[in-house]
This record gives sequence, structure tokens and C-alpha cells, in this order.
Amino acid sequence: MHTAHALRKRVMVTGGAGFLGSHLCERLLQQGHDVLCVDNFYTGSKDNLLSVLDHPHFELLRHDVTFPLYVEVDEIYNFACPASPVHYQFDPVQTTKTSVHGAINLLGLAKRVKATILQASTSEVYGDPQVHPQPEGYWGHVNPIGFRSCYDEGKRCAETLFFDYRRQHGLRIKVARIFNTYGPRMHPEDGRVVSNFIVQALRGRPITVYGTGAQTRSFCFVDDLIEACVRLMATPDDVVGPINLGNPVEFTIRDLGETIIRLTGTKSRMEFRPLPSDDPMRRQPDIGLARQVLAWEPLVSLEEGLLSTICYFEGLLQAGLLRDDECASVES
Ligand SMILES: NC(=O)c1ccc[n+]([C@@H]2O[C@H](COP(=O)([O-])OP(=O)(O)OC[C@H]3O[C@@H](n4cnc5c(N)ncnc54)[C@H](O)[C@@H]3O)[C@@H](O)[C@H]2O)c1
Repeated sequence: MHTAHALRKRVMVTGGAGFLGSHLCERLLQQGHDVLCVDNFYTGSKDNLLSVLDHPHFELLRHDVTFPLYVEVDEIYNFACPASPVHYQFDPVQTTKTSVHGAINLLGLAKRVKATILQASTSEVYGDPQVHPQPEGYWGHVNPIGFRSCYDEGKRCAETLFFDYRRQHGLRIKVARIFNTYGPRMHPEDGRVVSNFIVQALRGRPITVYGTGAQTRSFCFVDDLIEACVRLMATPDDVVGPINLGNPVEFTIRDLGETIIRLTGTKSRMEFRPLPSDDPMRRQPDIGLARQVLAWEPLVSLEEGLLSTICYFEGLLQAGLLRDDECASVES
């Protein structure tokens, strides 16, 4: 018979085979928890979990969160949902179902087993914001019928469900609004600017910049983001969010391109293409609330984070695991 670890919790991570979810699973195992990873492998992969697959306190379940699930857990991190425009626009109806039906199923589970549940929401709930940087009190500027709506409105509806389950059923909820995050295990073909630029640089191809490159983005390294999520889950019951999590330091896309050129030592140069109509000029989190409530702020510099991400993509390239076609899309 096993002696239960005094602080060991049974934690479920939906979307645990994805970029963020796999780092979260690792982190929770390091903390001594029992981790149940639930994923339908839509954009995630077992490769992301190689470091934990044999861990005695790790369990992997192939399951689609749009269907109900019955398990005994103490905490749920709901990370299941394709996150990049290429992936979430591929099957938009499924994207909305994943956010909305997924939230209903997992909130129902949390209610039955009295688990605390954390939602991975997104800065996309602010849409094309008219306020910079975006505080949590800003209601957003979202198109309900556009190509991005399946994701934006799906995530907004999920937030509504979380807050209604709390008001109606007294659930312990936490809602994190995650801003652009990057790091090892990002999907190489997801059309995000960081992965696009790195892959192009490593292949010696032109680095495609949309517009003049003067538009700014803020990039949070995955380790910083995971730290914030774990801290949010550990807050008292009256801390529910929504709470912005991201890195407020702004860089222009041109700065990013130049830094990646320097760090990879590539001979690639930037090539400028027309800017798509829905590309926001700025996207920056206001993390005042996270600083105050979680005593958290990002610690990893862009250079440090990029070096570790470059190292990951170099490994994929050397192992022949990168498809040899152009990265065509654009950062959300
Ligand atoms: N990466 C970011 O910058 C970012 C920013 C804001 C919000 N988020 C949110 O964080 C979460 C994780 O994002 P990510 O970047 O790791 O994306 P990802 O695509 O790498 O991970 C999503 C995971 O969910 C799984 N999944 C998708 N639909 C599912 C379903 N119906 N049932 C079960 N599993 C399903 C995928 O297979 C994948 O493993 C998402 O909810 C996303 O909206 C991410």
C-alpha cells in the first residue's frame, strides 16, 4: 500500500499534450502531484510528453473534451483548444464546440467532484482592442461573425460559463487571460511569428515580415506563464480573475527579426510583405493585477527565451522532424 504524499493532489490537465499543457504537466509532476493529461491530439502530440510518459504519477487519456468525462480529481486546468489561427480556423465549428461544450463538460465535472477549475482564456477576448494596454475591466472589441470569432467568442462564452457556474453553483473557478506565449514545443507550423522567424532563420530562408515590422508584440516565455498559472490555482477561493498573464515588454516585429538573425547567426534577411487587414498594430497586457495578487512578473528575457526556443527547433530540424515547406501565415 502506498503512503499518500501529504500535499499530493490529483490534477487534470486538458490539452496536456499541447505546447503549454505539456510544460504544465511537467511542472505539476515536479511539485509531487498526480497528473492526468487529457487530450485528443488535435494539435498536441505524445512527443511533447516524452519526458513524463514513464513517470509513475503521470497518466495520459485520449479523450475529446466536447464529450463528458467522469474522473475523480481535485484540480482541473482547462487548456484544451487549438490556439493558433491556422489551427483554430481549420475546423471553426469544432473550435467553438471545444471551448463551449468543453467548458460545460469540465465545469459539470468540477461541480460533481468539488474540484477547483482554471480556464486558459486568452487576450483574444479583447478582440481588436481600442484601449492599450488592456486591463481586465476592458470588455473588448470583438467581431462576432468573423474568421476569428470561433476562437474569440468561444473563449468569451467559456468565461461566461465559468462565472455563471460560480454564481449559480458556488464553484471554485480561476480565469487566466493568456497573452502571446512562446518557447520549446510551440507547433512549428502554427504560423506564429516567433516559430516562423526561427524556422526560416535556421533554414537560411528569408524572414517574412508583414507590413513594415513597426507593429509591436509582447512575448512571454512559457516557464514564466506556467509559474503564473500554478500561482493562480493556489490562490484563495475569492481570487477568481479574470487575470491577465503575459509579458508587458513590447518589441517591434522588426526587433524580433533582428534578434533572431543575430542569435541564430543565419545569413537570412528580412523580406517585407503586405499587412493582412486584421493584424493589430499593438497587443500588450496590463499585468498590474497579476503583480499584486500573484506577486508574479515575468523573469525570462526575450534573448534567454529565444535561445532556448532556437535550441528546440534546431533539435527538430536535425532529427528531420520539420516539414520542408514555407511558413506562410501570420501572427495573431
Ligand atoms: N500559446 C499562447 O500564446 C496562448 C495564448 C492565449 C491562450 N492560450 C490558450 O492556452 C491553451 C493551450 O494553448 P497552446 O498554445 O498550448 O495550444 P496547443 O494547440 O499546443 O494545445 C492545445 C491542446 O489541446 C488539445 N485539444 C484541442 N481540442 C481538444 C479537444 N476537443 N479535446 C481534447 N483536447 C483538445 C490539442 O490536441 C492540444 O494538445 C489553449 O486553450 C489556448 O487557447 C494560449
